[in-house]
Amino acid sequence: MNKRSFLKYGLLSLSSAVVAMGTWGIAKFVFFDSGRKKRREFSKEVLSRLQPDVPMHLPEAGAWLVKRRDDDQITAFDDRCPHLGCRENWNSERMLFECPCHGSEFDLEGNVRRGPASRPMMRLYMIGQDGNKLRLHDKPPSS
Ligand code: FES
Repeated sequence: MNKRSFLKYGLLSLSSAVVAMGTWGIAKFVFFDSGRKKRREFSKEVLSRLQPDVPMHLPEAGAWLVKRRDDDQITAFDDRCPHLGCRENWNSERMLFECPCHGSEFDLEGNVRRGPASRPMMRLYMIGQDGNKLRLHDKPPSS
């Protein structure tokens, strides 16, 4: 193999690797995203274990459930920070959701207490399913 052939095959191999990595990244993004939306379900029994003003994390549904002390209203939020998508943590001493990535903070109603996030936590809506399941949607049910 001469020098020219070696460079030609080397560049071809490198180009193929770059295309393969890009395709894998796109496929992973598409399938991860659509798969997550399909799994936002949980058992209705979970609601009976909610304590007032103590958020419950449902990692398999990618959500937080919050039952407010004032009115027993139950609210669901996406567990991804609206800034760049890191998963928020609950700090029970400070009564705030905290993002470990860049320090955004949110109150129990999902409102921004500290940036860089400029939007509140994404609200999710519970819709009853057959049997003992509830499903979370990012849009309110149409009436
Ligand atoms: S991803 Fe949460 S503050 Fe940046």
